[in-house]
Amino acid sequence: MKVAIGSDHGGVRLKEEIKQVILSMGHEVEDCGCNCTDSVDYPDYAIAVCDKVVAGQADRGILICGTGIGMTIAANKIPGIRCALVHDLFSAKATREHNDSNVLAMGERVIGSGVASEITRIWLETGFSGEARHAGRVEKVKSLENKYAAHP
Ligand code: RB5
Repeated sequence: MKVAIGSDHGGVRLKEEIKQVILSMGHEVEDCGCNCTDSVDYPDYAIAVCDKVVAGQADRGILICGTGIGMTIAANKIPGIRCALVHDLFSAKATREHNDSNVLAMGERVIGSGVASEITRIWLETGFSGEARHAGRVEKVKSLENKYAAHP
């Protein structure tokens, strides 16, 4: 699997640790920045990662900022993205099984690297359940993109 990863300055330290987790699982990583602790704007990195997922150049995306919230808001504006903000192990599994999330967001200022690493492992190795009720709900979520795109 190819995983695109990005952060702002508030998530750059955790990003480096999560890259090692992804590599240790035998996956490929594409680092979309940022690569310094200077103040940057999280939407720029959400776009860089999500564009790769939407284009099929990455199978999944991971976004990290201080809280994970800004990244999640930005990512979920992009058609084709289902970004889950996850800070616990139960949600890491559930969002793959129920929501088929294709982008994971976490906050470096919210959780430690041990929990973040385990969330990453679970989220990457869990498949979508494919159950009809969940598939139907994901299709409804996708249909919102067309419904609200029609409004000015
Ligand atoms: C940056 O200070 C911080 O606002 C950002 O990392 C993130 O938490 C935004 O949601």
